[in-house]
Amino acid sequence: MLSFEDDSRPLPRGYTAAHDAAAREPEPHFDDIKYRRVRVEDKRVINGAADVNQLVPFKYKWAWEKYLAGCANHWMPQEINMSRDIATWKDPNGLTEDERLIVKRNLGFFVTADSLAANNIVLGTYRHITAPECRQYLLRQAFEEAIHTHAYQYIVESLGLDEGEIFNAYHEVPCIRAKDEFLIPFIDTLTDPAFKTGTPENDQKLLKSLIVFACIMEGLFFYVGFVQILALGRQNKMTGAAEQYQYILRDESMHCNFGIDLINQIKMENPHLWTPAFREEIRALIRKGVELEYAYAEDTMPRGVLGLNAPMFKEYLRFIANRRCQQIGLDELYPGATNPFPWMAEMIDLKKEKNFFETRVIEYQTGGALSWD
Ligand SMILES: [Fe+2]
Ligand SMILES: [Fe+2]
Repeated sequence: MLSFEDDSRPLPRGYTAAHDAAAREPEPHFDDIKYRRVRVEDKRVINGAADVNQLVPFKYKWAWEKYLAGCANHWMPQEINMSRDIATWKDPNGLTEDERLIVKRNLGFFVTADSLAANNIVLGTYRHITAPECRQYLLRQAFEEAIHTHAYQYIVESLGLDEGEIFNAYHEVPCIRAKDEFLIPFIDTLTDPAFKTGTPENDQKLLKSLIVFACIMEGLFFYVGFVQILALGRQNKMTGAAEQYQYILRDESMHCNFGIDLINQIKMENPHLWTPAFREEIRALIRKGVELEYAYAEDTMPRGVLGLNAPMFKEYLRFIANRRCQQIGLDELYPGATNPFPWMAEMIDLKKEKNFFETRVIEYQTGGALSWD
């Protein structure tokens, strides 16, 4: 861009009136370089052409509202007191062997699952989503996944567990490995640097990966583990870990809901992707997810424990799978399945004003304030 501010400088040798006229030619108009201000109607969740650097004008208010809600639910793992859990874990009579197995298997799955989730967002999903409101939520979600990995690591460290055993469980424990092996091809699709949306085939691949991630990973694979640790907490055991899981569950339930809104928005904007064959493919994937999660339930609960047993989880997983199908507009897979753990709903709807969260929220507001004096 030329500047005329220093016109008083001596003219260079050979400078003529023609040069002067050329230099004073008006700047190219923005229209000439295909610029125009962002209009709501130009925004799309995928394959959009509107500038992704401009958050407003808002089109996807549901995404922005979830971003605000995620920020309002902020928490950090080290704020939760783990001393009772440490005493329970060290006490030879503190927990049964079956209860210890549940804790170790849980951490074995989750301690890497949330890193997979974070990498999937940052290296995959994010770059394919062209709605800045959705990207804003994904940035918040990525940070929450980091907090979750931190929480699991913090529990492992607090209890003095064998880090090598827990962090390698996703290679070494078959029922955990099976879940991750199911997920990895869908994550690889999104993180492949050569993968680009813009054809019906690739847009379906993206949509399938988003459904696997939101409805099967975050919306199904997490739930056996959540129920188990929260059931321990309900019996007044491992209450610090249970509190961490309760916050994580609240975050994950928001991630799952955001993912479902995202999927439905893409469907609405691209109805040609939602073919009968595609819908059947998704139903088969959800059915596979239920089988894998049920195998995990059986492995982690070889006998009944905490008033729970594997068959109860078969029903629970079918109930959740139906709900996920219904949320994205698919026919139910398991008609008539009911929820054997109605108390889970109240865990998900945790309201911070109801409990211990209250004091900490105030601390955030004062602890984070800047002083200008
Ligand atoms: Fe997470
Ligand atoms: Fe998540």
